[in-house]
Amino acid sequence: MVKAAVLHHYGEPLAIEELDLAAPRFGEVKVKMKAAGLCHSDWHVVQGQLPLPLPLVLGHEGAGIVEEVGEGVTSVQAGDHVVLNWVPSCGRCPYCRLGRPDLCEAAARLTATGTLPDGTTRFSLGGKPVYQFLTAGAFSERTIVPEQAAIPIRRDVPFELAALISCSVMTGVGAVIHAARVRPGSTVAVIGAGGVGFNIIQGAALAGAKQIIAIDIVEEKLTMTKTFGATHTVNAGDEDAVSAVLDLTDGLGVDYAFEAIGRPETMADAYNMTRKAGMTVIVGIAAPHETVEINAFSLPSQAKTLTGVWLGQGNPPVDYPKLLDLYAAGKLKLEPLISAVYALEQINDGFAALKSGQNIRGLIRFEE
Ligand code: APR
Ligand code: ZN
Ligand code: ZN
Repeated sequence: MVKAAVLHHYGEPLAIEELDLAAPRFGEVKVKMKAAGLCHSDWHVVQGQLPLPLPLVLGHEGAGIVEEVGEGVTSVQAGDHVVLNWVPSCGRCPYCRLGRPDLCEAAARLTATGTLPDGTTRFSLGGKPVYQFLTAGAFSERTIVPEQAAIPIRRDVPFELAALISCSVMTGVGAVIHAARVRPGSTVAVIGAGGVGFNIIQGAALAGAKQIIAIDIVEEKLTMTKTFGATHTVNAGDEDAVSAVLDLTDGLGVDYAFEAIGRPETMADAYNMTRKAGMTVIVGIAAPHETVEINAFSLPSQAKTLTGVWLGQGNPPVDYPKLLDLYAAGKLKLEPLISAVYALEQINDGFAALKSGQNIRGLIRFEE
Protein backbone atom coordinates (compact mmCIF):
# COMPACT_ATOMS: atom_id res chain seq x y z
CA MET A 1 0.00 0.00 0.00
CA VAL A 2 1.12 3.54 -0.73
CA LYS A 3 -0.33 6.85 0.36
CA ALA A 4 -1.19 9.08 -2.60
CA ALA A 5 -3.16 12.25 -3.44
CA VAL A 6 -5.93 11.26 -5.83
CA LEU A 7 -8.30 13.38 -7.93
CA HIS A 8 -11.69 11.61 -8.06
CA HIS A 9 -13.84 14.45 -9.48
CA TYR A 10 -12.93 17.70 -11.21
CA GLY A 11 -13.21 20.76 -9.03
CA GLU A 12 -13.00 18.78 -5.78
CA PRO A 13 -10.12 18.62 -3.30
CA LEU A 14 -7.67 15.76 -3.72
CA ALA A 15 -8.28 12.74 -1.48
CA ILE A 16 -5.45 11.08 0.42
CA GLU A 17 -5.88 7.37 -0.30
CA GLU A 18 -4.06 4.15 0.47
CA LEU A 19 -3.54 2.62 -2.97
CA ASP A 20 -2.33 -0.80 -3.97
CA LEU A 21 0.86 -0.69 -5.99
CA ALA A 22 1.85 -3.73 -8.06
CA ALA A 23 5.49 -4.57 -8.82
CA PRO A 24 7.30 -2.97 -11.77
CA ARG A 25 6.98 -4.93 -15.01
CA PHE A 26 9.38 -5.14 -17.96
CA GLY A 27 11.09 -1.79 -18.58
CA GLU A 28 9.55 -0.16 -15.50
CA VAL A 29 11.07 1.40 -12.40
CA LYS A 30 9.72 1.81 -8.88
CA VAL A 31 10.64 5.16 -7.38
CA LYS A 32 10.36 6.06 -3.69
CA MET A 33 9.39 9.73 -3.91
CA LYS A 34 11.28 12.24 -1.77
CA ALA A 35 9.90 15.57 -3.03
CA ALA A 36 7.33 16.79 -5.55
CA GLY A 37 6.42 20.32 -6.64
CA LEU A 38 2.89 21.70 -7.05
CA CYS A 39 2.72 22.97 -10.63
CA HIS A 40 -0.01 24.94 -12.31
CA SER A 41 -0.40 22.07 -14.79
CA ASP A 42 -1.67 19.87 -11.91
CA TRP A 43 -4.05 22.68 -10.99
CA HIS A 44 -5.32 22.92 -14.60
CA VAL A 45 -6.31 19.25 -14.25
CA VAL A 46 -8.00 19.72 -10.86
CA GLN A 47 -10.12 22.46 -12.42
CA GLY A 48 -11.10 20.20 -15.33
CA GLN A 49 -9.25 22.27 -17.94
CA LEU A 50 -7.25 19.29 -19.19
CA PRO A 51 -9.70 16.37 -19.26
CA LEU A 52 -8.03 13.09 -18.31
CA PRO A 53 -9.18 9.69 -17.05
CA LEU A 54 -10.11 9.65 -13.35
CA PRO A 55 -9.32 8.72 -10.64
CA LEU A 56 -5.85 10.13 -11.19
CA VAL A 57 -2.68 10.43 -9.08
CA LEU A 58 -1.51 13.97 -9.83
CA GLY A 59 2.03 15.36 -9.61
CA HIS A 60 4.75 15.34 -12.27
CA GLU A 61 7.58 17.50 -10.90
CA GLY A 62 9.43 15.12 -8.63
CA ALA A 63 12.59 13.46 -7.44
CA GLY A 64 13.25 10.27 -5.50
CA ILE A 65 15.27 7.08 -5.17
CA VAL A 66 14.97 3.98 -7.32
CA GLU A 67 13.76 1.16 -5.09
CA GLU A 68 13.29 -1.65 -7.57
CA VAL A 69 13.64 -2.18 -11.30
CA GLY A 70 11.70 -4.47 -13.61
CA GLU A 71 13.23 -6.88 -16.09
CA GLY A 72 15.14 -5.34 -18.96
CA VAL A 73 15.92 -2.02 -17.23
CA THR A 74 19.49 -0.93 -17.93
CA SER A 75 19.79 2.83 -17.36
CA VAL A 76 19.12 2.90 -13.60
CA GLN A 77 19.43 0.58 -10.62
CA ALA A 78 18.16 0.44 -7.05
CA GLY A 79 19.63 3.27 -4.98
CA ASP A 80 20.02 5.73 -7.84
CA HIS A 81 18.75 9.26 -7.31
CA VAL A 82 16.35 10.19 -10.10
CA VAL A 83 14.31 13.11 -11.39
CA LEU A 84 11.00 12.26 -13.07
CA ASN A 85 10.77 13.02 -16.79
CA TRP A 86 7.13 13.67 -17.67
CA VAL A 87 7.77 13.31 -21.42
CA PRO A 88 9.34 9.82 -21.58
CA SER A 89 10.12 9.83 -25.28
CA CYS A 90 10.14 6.65 -27.35
CA GLY A 91 13.14 7.30 -29.61
CA ARG A 92 11.28 5.84 -32.60
CA CYS A 93 8.41 8.16 -33.61
CA PRO A 94 8.83 10.82 -36.34
CA TYR A 95 9.47 13.59 -33.77
CA CYS A 96 12.02 11.60 -31.80
CA ARG A 97 13.80 10.85 -35.08
CA LEU A 98 13.71 14.55 -35.96
CA GLY A 99 15.55 15.28 -32.72
CA ARG A 100 12.47 16.67 -30.95
CA PRO A 101 11.82 14.26 -28.05
CA ASP A 102 9.78 17.02 -26.36
CA LEU A 103 7.11 16.40 -29.01
CA CYS A 104 7.26 12.58 -28.90
CA GLU A 105 3.99 11.11 -30.10
CA ALA A 106 4.17 8.07 -27.85
CA ALA A 107 4.68 10.27 -24.78
CA ALA A 108 1.74 12.47 -25.84
CA ARG A 109 -0.43 9.34 -25.99
CA LEU A 110 0.61 8.44 -22.44
CA THR A 111 -0.41 11.92 -21.31
CA ALA A 112 -3.85 11.35 -22.80
CA THR A 113 -4.34 7.84 -21.41
CA GLY A 114 -2.85 8.47 -17.97
CA THR A 115 -1.13 5.11 -18.18
CA LEU A 116 2.20 3.39 -18.65
CA PRO A 117 3.15 2.27 -22.20
CA ASP A 118 1.24 -1.05 -21.87
CA GLY A 119 -2.02 0.86 -21.33
CA THR A 120 -2.35 0.09 -17.61
CA THR A 121 -0.94 1.48 -14.37
CA ARG A 122 0.34 -0.30 -11.27
CA PHE A 123 -1.91 1.81 -9.00
CA SER A 124 -5.33 0.52 -7.98
CA LEU A 125 -7.99 1.25 -5.36
CA GLY A 126 -10.42 -1.49 -4.34
CA GLY A 127 -9.39 -3.49 -7.41
CA LYS A 128 -10.15 -0.61 -9.81
CA PRO A 129 -7.44 1.14 -11.83
CA VAL A 130 -6.10 4.51 -10.76
CA TYR A 131 -4.36 6.55 -13.48
CA GLN A 132 -1.21 8.65 -13.24
CA PHE A 133 -0.67 12.19 -14.51
CA LEU A 134 2.02 12.72 -17.17
CA THR A 135 3.32 9.17 -16.67
CA ALA A 136 4.60 10.35 -13.29
CA GLY A 137 1.99 10.18 -10.53
CA ALA A 138 4.43 12.03 -8.31
CA PHE A 139 2.04 12.78 -5.43
CA SER A 140 2.45 9.25 -4.12
CA GLU A 141 4.92 7.78 -1.65
CA ARG A 142 5.99 5.40 -4.40
CA THR A 143 5.27 5.38 -8.11
CA ILE A 144 6.05 3.11 -11.04
CA VAL A 145 7.21 4.76 -14.24
CA PRO A 146 8.80 3.67 -17.52
CA GLU A 147 12.60 3.56 -17.42
CA GLN A 148 12.76 6.65 -19.69
CA ALA A 149 10.85 8.62 -17.06
CA ALA A 150 13.47 8.11 -14.33
CA ILE A 151 16.55 10.19 -15.13
CA PRO A 152 19.59 9.42 -12.96
CA ILE A 153 21.19 12.51 -11.38
CA ARG A 154 24.18 13.50 -9.23
CA ARG A 155 23.72 12.63 -5.57
CA ASP A 156 24.95 15.84 -3.96
CA VAL A 157 21.86 17.95 -4.71
CA PRO A 158 19.03 17.72 -2.16
CA PHE A 159 15.88 16.04 -3.51
CA GLU A 160 13.73 19.13 -2.93
CA LEU A 161 15.92 21.15 -5.27
CA ALA A 162 16.32 18.34 -7.78
CA ALA A 163 12.52 17.97 -8.00
CA LEU A 164 12.23 21.50 -9.38
CA ILE A 165 14.45 20.59 -12.34
CA SER A 166 11.80 18.16 -13.55
CA CYS A 167 9.29 20.80 -14.67
CA SER A 168 9.63 24.44 -13.65
CA VAL A 169 13.38 24.81 -14.25
CA MET A 170 13.43 22.72 -17.44
CA THR A 171 10.35 24.50 -18.78
CA GLY A 172 11.41 28.04 -17.89
CA VAL A 173 15.13 27.95 -18.60
CA GLY A 174 14.54 25.73 -21.64
CA ALA A 175 11.99 28.17 -23.09
CA VAL A 176 14.72 30.82 -23.08
CA ILE A 177 17.71 28.76 -24.12
CA HIS A 178 16.22 26.17 -26.48
CA ALA A 179 13.04 27.73 -27.89
CA ALA A 180 13.75 31.47 -27.98
CA ARG A 181 17.55 31.27 -27.98
CA VAL A 182 17.68 34.70 -26.35
CA ARG A 183 20.78 36.58 -27.43
CA PRO A 184 22.98 38.63 -25.09
CA GLY A 185 21.85 42.26 -24.87
CA SER A 186 18.19 41.45 -25.63
CA THR A 187 15.05 42.84 -24.07
CA VAL A 188 12.66 40.32 -22.49
CA ALA A 189 9.20 40.44 -20.88
CA VAL A 190 7.77 37.59 -18.77
CA ILE A 191 4.04 37.52 -17.97
CA GLY A 192 3.39 35.38 -14.88
CA ALA A 193 5.98 35.14 -12.12
CA GLY A 194 5.24 31.66 -10.81
CA GLY A 195 7.50 28.62 -10.67
CA VAL A 196 7.89 28.65 -14.44
CA GLY A 197 8.07 32.44 -14.85
CA PHE A 198 10.87 32.81 -12.27
CA ASN A 199 12.88 30.29 -14.26
CA ILE A 200 12.26 32.18 -17.50
CA ILE A 201 13.59 35.25 -15.71
CA GLN A 202 16.72 33.50 -14.45
CA GLY A 203 17.18 31.83 -17.85
CA ALA A 204 17.04 35.24 -19.53
CA ALA A 205 19.60 36.56 -17.05
CA LEU A 206 21.83 33.53 -17.78
CA ALA A 207 21.52 34.28 -21.51
CA GLY A 208 22.70 37.87 -20.95
CA ALA A 209 19.47 39.80 -21.56
CA LYS A 210 19.99 43.49 -20.75
CA GLN A 211 16.39 44.25 -19.80
CA ILE A 212 14.04 41.76 -18.14
CA ILE A 213 10.53 42.97 -17.35
CA ALA A 214 8.59 40.77 -14.91
CA ILE A 215 4.79 41.06 -14.96
CA ASP A 216 2.48 39.64 -12.30
CA ILE A 217 -0.33 40.73 -9.98
CA VAL A 218 1.32 39.76 -6.66
CA GLU A 219 3.59 42.59 -5.57
CA GLU A 220 5.74 40.55 -3.12
CA LYS A 221 6.70 38.10 -5.84
CA LEU A 222 7.44 40.92 -8.28
CA THR A 223 9.89 42.30 -5.72
CA MET A 224 11.57 38.90 -5.51
CA THR A 225 11.99 38.67 -9.29
CA LYS A 226 14.71 41.33 -8.96
CA THR A 227 16.95 38.84 -7.16
CA PHE A 228 16.55 36.48 -10.14
CA GLY A 229 17.60 39.12 -12.65
CA ALA A 230 14.48 41.15 -13.43
CA THR A 231 15.40 44.78 -14.15
CA HIS A 232 11.82 46.12 -14.14
CA THR A 233 8.48 44.97 -12.75
CA VAL A 234 4.92 45.68 -13.83
CA ASN A 235 1.89 44.98 -11.66
CA ALA A 236 -0.80 44.02 -14.16
CA GLY A 237 -3.42 44.59 -11.49
CA ASP A 238 -2.54 48.30 -11.41
CA GLU A 239 -1.68 49.11 -15.01
CA ASP A 240 -2.05 47.79 -18.53
CA ALA A 241 0.85 45.40 -19.08
CA VAL A 242 1.21 46.04 -22.82
CA SER A 243 1.32 49.84 -22.44
CA ALA A 244 3.77 49.53 -19.55
CA VAL A 245 6.14 47.37 -21.62
CA LEU A 246 5.91 49.73 -24.60
CA ASP A 247 6.73 52.65 -22.28
CA LEU A 248 9.78 50.79 -20.95
CA THR A 249 11.08 50.03 -24.47
CA ASP A 250 10.76 53.44 -26.19
CA GLY A 251 7.51 52.35 -27.78
CA LEU A 252 9.10 49.42 -29.62
CA GLY A 253 8.13 46.39 -27.56
CA VAL A 254 10.51 43.68 -26.38
CA ASP A 255 12.68 41.37 -28.44
CA TYR A 256 11.16 38.35 -26.65
CA ALA A 257 7.91 38.07 -24.68
CA PHE A 258 6.98 34.93 -22.72
CA GLU A 259 3.55 34.01 -21.38
CA ALA A 260 3.72 31.73 -18.32
CA ILE A 261 0.17 31.68 -16.95
CA GLY A 262 -2.01 29.82 -19.46
CA ARG A 263 -4.66 32.49 -20.24
CA PRO A 264 -5.64 33.49 -23.81
CA GLU A 265 -5.80 37.19 -22.82
CA THR A 266 -2.25 37.28 -21.49
CA MET A 267 -1.06 35.25 -24.49
CA ALA A 268 -2.42 38.03 -26.73
CA ASP A 269 -0.74 40.57 -24.43
CA ALA A 270 2.59 38.78 -24.91
CA TYR A 271 2.17 38.99 -28.68
CA ASN A 272 1.18 42.66 -28.52
CA MET A 273 4.18 43.64 -26.39
CA THR A 274 6.65 41.94 -28.77
CA ARG A 275 8.46 44.28 -31.18
CA LYS A 276 8.24 43.86 -34.96
CA ALA A 277 10.25 40.79 -36.00
CA GLY A 278 10.56 39.84 -32.33
CA MET A 279 9.49 36.54 -30.80
CA THR A 280 6.51 35.58 -28.63
CA VAL A 281 6.84 32.31 -26.74
CA ILE A 282 3.76 30.74 -25.16
CA VAL A 283 4.72 28.58 -22.19
CA GLY A 284 1.41 28.57 -20.28
CA ILE A 285 -1.16 25.90 -21.08
CA ALA A 286 -4.71 26.97 -21.88
CA ALA A 287 -7.67 24.57 -22.05
CA PRO A 288 -7.92 22.67 -25.38
CA HIS A 289 -11.03 24.58 -26.55
CA GLU A 290 -9.67 28.09 -26.00
CA THR A 291 -8.44 30.41 -28.77
CA VAL A 292 -6.23 33.50 -28.78
CA GLU A 293 -7.28 36.67 -30.55
CA ILE A 294 -4.52 38.19 -32.64
CA ASN A 295 -4.80 41.04 -35.14
CA ALA A 296 -4.64 39.44 -38.59
CA PHE A 297 -3.03 42.42 -40.34
CA SER A 298 -0.18 42.41 -37.82
CA LEU A 299 0.89 38.92 -38.88
CA PRO A 300 2.45 40.01 -42.19
CA SER A 301 3.02 43.67 -41.37
CA GLN A 302 4.86 43.10 -38.07
CA ALA A 303 6.55 39.82 -38.98
CA LYS A 304 6.73 38.51 -35.42
CA THR A 305 7.54 34.90 -34.64
CA LEU A 306 4.82 33.32 -32.51
CA THR A 307 5.70 29.95 -31.03
CA GLY A 308 5.13 27.77 -28.02
CA VAL A 309 7.20 25.41 -25.93
CA TRP A 310 6.55 22.12 -24.18
CA LEU A 311 9.00 20.84 -21.54
CA GLY A 312 11.28 23.76 -22.44
CA GLN A 313 12.01 21.97 -25.71
CA GLY A 314 14.30 19.84 -23.61
CA ASN A 315 15.78 16.39 -23.77
CA PRO A 316 15.70 15.33 -20.10
CA PRO A 317 18.45 12.67 -20.12
CA VAL A 318 20.83 15.40 -21.32
CA ASP A 319 19.26 18.53 -19.87
CA TYR A 320 18.34 17.50 -16.31
CA PRO A 321 21.96 16.66 -15.40
CA LYS A 322 23.14 19.82 -17.18
CA LEU A 323 20.71 22.04 -15.25
CA LEU A 324 21.84 20.46 -11.97
CA ASP A 325 25.45 21.15 -12.95
CA LEU A 326 24.51 24.79 -13.60
CA TYR A 327 23.01 24.94 -10.11
CA ALA A 328 26.10 23.36 -8.58
CA ALA A 329 28.25 25.91 -10.44
CA GLY A 330 26.25 28.74 -8.82
CA LYS A 331 24.62 29.83 -12.08
CA LEU A 332 21.02 28.88 -11.23
CA LYS A 333 19.15 29.68 -8.03
CA LEU A 334 16.98 26.87 -6.69
CA GLU A 335 16.57 27.34 -2.90
CA PRO A 336 14.66 30.64 -3.11
CA LEU A 337 12.16 29.13 -5.55
CA ILE A 338 10.69 27.08 -2.70
CA SER A 339 8.16 29.23 -0.85
CA ALA A 340 6.50 26.52 1.25
CA VAL A 341 6.90 22.84 2.10
CA TYR A 342 3.87 20.63 2.80
CA ALA A 343 3.23 17.09 3.97
CA LEU A 344 1.25 15.01 1.46
CA GLU A 345 -1.82 15.36 3.73
CA GLN A 346 -1.62 19.16 3.38
CA ILE A 347 -1.66 19.11 -0.41
CA ASN A 348 -4.99 20.95 -0.71
CA ASP A 349 -3.53 23.82 1.35
CA GLY A 350 -0.69 23.89 -1.17
CA PHE A 351 -3.11 24.17 -4.08
CA ALA A 352 -5.04 26.94 -2.30
CA ALA A 353 -1.76 28.86 -2.05
CA LEU A 354 -1.02 28.16 -5.73
CA LYS A 355 -4.45 29.46 -6.68
CA SER A 356 -3.91 32.70 -4.79
CA GLY A 357 -0.48 33.11 -6.42
CA GLN A 358 1.34 33.52 -3.09
CA ASN A 359 3.98 30.83 -3.61
CA ILE A 360 6.73 30.73 -6.17
CA ARG A 361 6.77 26.96 -5.70
CA GLY A 362 5.07 24.87 -3.05
CA LEU A 363 6.61 21.45 -2.52
CA ILE A 364 5.50 18.16 -0.99
CA ARG A 365 8.15 16.55 1.21
CA PHE A 366 7.58 12.82 1.71
CA GLU A 367 8.15 11.30 5.13
CA GLU A 368 10.94 8.79 5.61
N1 APR B 1 -1.58 38.90 -15.04
C1 APR B 1 -0.33 38.69 -14.59
N2 APR B 1 0.00 37.63 -13.79
C2 APR B 1 -0.99 36.80 -13.43
C3 APR B 1 -2.32 36.95 -13.88
C4 APR B 1 -2.60 38.09 -14.70
N3 APR B 1 -3.82 38.34 -15.16
N4 APR B 1 -3.06 35.93 -13.37
C5 APR B 1 -2.23 35.16 -12.66
N5 APR B 1 -0.96 35.66 -12.69
C6 APR B 1 0.25 35.14 -12.07
C7 APR B 1 0.06 34.54 -10.69
O1 APR B 1 0.10 35.54 -9.69
C8 APR B 1 1.25 33.59 -10.60
O2 APR B 1 2.40 34.23 -10.04
O3 APR B 1 0.70 34.04 -12.86
C9 APR B 1 1.55 33.23 -12.05
C10 APR B 1 1.31 31.77 -12.38
O4 APR B 1 2.20 31.01 -11.62
P1 APR B 1 1.94 29.52 -11.08
O5 APR B 1 0.54 29.39 -10.65
O6 APR B 1 3.04 29.20 -10.14
O7 APR B 1 2.08 28.68 -12.44
P2 APR B 1 3.33 27.82 -12.98
O8 APR B 1 3.39 26.51 -12.28
O9 APR B 1 4.51 28.70 -13.03
O10 APR B 1 2.83 27.50 -14.46
C11 APR B 1 2.58 28.53 -15.40
O11 APR B 1 3.09 27.19 -17.31
O12 APR B 1 3.66 24.96 -17.51
C12 APR B 1 2.63 25.89 -17.57
O13 APR B 1 0.67 24.61 -16.94
C13 APR B 1 1.56 25.64 -16.54
O14 APR B 1 0.00 27.10 -17.60
C14 APR B 1 0.89 26.98 -16.51
C15 APR B 1 2.06 27.94 -16.69
ZN1 ZN C 1 4.68 21.30 -14.48
ZN1 ZN D 1 8.86 9.42 -29.81
